[in-house]
Amino acid sequence: MRVAMIGTGYVGLVSGACFADFGHHVTCVDKNEEKVAMLRAGGIPIYEPGLDLLVQRNVREERLDFATDLSEAVKNADVVFIAVGTPSRRGDGHADLSYVYAAAEEIASVMEGYTVIVNKSTVPVGTGDEVERIIRERRPDGDFSVVSNPEFLREGAAIDDFKRPDRVVVGTEDDRAQTVMKELYRPLYLNETPLLFTGRRTSELIKYAANAFLAMKITFINEMADLCEEVGANVQEVARGVGLDKRIGSKFLNAGPGYGGSCFPKDTLALTKTAKEAGTPLKLVETTVAVNDSRKRAMADKVVKAMGGDAKGKTIAVLGLTFKPNTDDMRDAPSLDIIPALQEAGAKIRAYDPAGIVEAERLMKDVEFVSGPYLCADGADALVIITEWNEFRALDLDRLSQSMKGKVVVDLRNIYRPDDMAERGFDYTSVGR
Ligand SMILES: NC(=O)c1ccc[n+]([C@@H]2O[C@H](COP(=O)([O-])OP(=O)(O)OC[C@H]3O[C@@H](n4cnc5c(N)ncnc54)[C@H](O)[C@@H]3O)[C@@H](O)[C@H]2O)c1
Repeated sequence: MRVAMIGTGYVGLVSGACFADFGHHVTCVDKNEEKVAMLRAGGIPIYEPGLDLLVQRNVREERLDFATDLSEAVKNADVVFIAVGTPSRRGDGHADLSYVYAAAEEIASVMEGYTVIVNKSTVPVGTGDEVERIIRERRPDGDFSVVSNPEFLREGAAIDDFKRPDRVVVGTEDDRAQTVMKELYRPLYLNETPLLFTGRRTSELIKYAANAFLAMKITFINEMADLCEEVGANVQEVARGVGLDKRIGSKFLNAGPGYGGSCFPKDTLALTKTAKEAGTPLKLVETTVAVNDSRKRAMADKVVKAMGGDAKGKTIAVLGLTFKPNTDDMRDAPSLDIIPALQEAGAKIRAYDPAGIVEAERLMKDVEFVSGPYLCADGADALVIITEWNEFRALDLDRLSQSMKGKVVVDLRNIYRPDDMAERGFDYTSVGR
């Protein structure tokens, strides 16, 4: 099949490369000329493990190419994906759908023959109807279907998630479109991946419901961690004891500094807006949003408290800036709240991240960025682990201890054992233990 992918970001590039790997011909389109030039020159604009090889292979085998203009790709396509961003709209927290609608208009003006237009972006319930209306208005004669096919991949494990998903959700009431979508996902279908066909609105809502549930699960264990700290219990053991119950499951029960990233914060917020407007407020999700927001700043207080209540003039070494490991994505990362709050408390910040520094430099002020964890710790009064990159999991603790001036370590991801840290003479604080 011929596929046009409109938007070549974290989702568009991974999905496009994976569809090409399934054997389809894919053109990834992006308005960002720099991005497309880089891809054409063999570079990868984002950090995602394994993506470079996957893209290279499919480009070499002529199943994957890149463009800044969508005309050619859309004209020839059986399936056109919309995979553009849907960030929070400034001011009200609704999803900003302007990129989606702009893409729909462009697609309408050039599509030829029967075309399935698929919303892969995360969009509020009813967006498919609006996309259909926009296209129909421009092309009263057009032969097309609009389908919802939300994406569930996680950055950092995106290729595996795309190729071995728990399920694929396809929202359409149209038999012709169903046949096309089945053909597109045939390699997964043959693998017995559940392919769930639903109504379009239902499919749109499934994506938000899934993200909201996961965000609630994280927030639940984070609140449990606070309680554990007060009553002398260990949240990791609580999480294990709870997670082994198959009705609950062990994933997303790691206490930490609060969820961040390009999806959970904006999607939970957008869902609460949709629900309120529909007259059925989602109180659990509203509370999750509020609890998580306040948690990120509370983590800075935790650090200051660990430093004896005073961070003025002290140097804090921060390890990990991205919202999670194995990505360079800084969108809504907890570090963006924690670091400014520490600076407000008078601390000087020195930071290291394996992939996030380029973006962090753009987003943070007055931070000294360095190229490794020991350099970061050198002479610091305290060390804070915000993101659990693998390279932070097995630091040489003796070397760390020698290079630091102070002994305070605040581990917001619980990657070290309190006993080990105490043995090395660290004044160690973690979450819920
Ligand atoms: N990042 C994730 O982990 C993830 C996971 C699941 C779903 N999603 C959803 O997928 C969507 C895309 O997210 P992302 O993280 O890939 O965003 P992104 O910001 O990384 O990429 C979006 C790209 O679309 C391009 N674009 C915007 N308008 C365009 C147009 N008219 N024509 C061509 N290109 C255009 C932008 O230049 C940008 O490169 C969002 O709705 C998001 O919520 C993201």
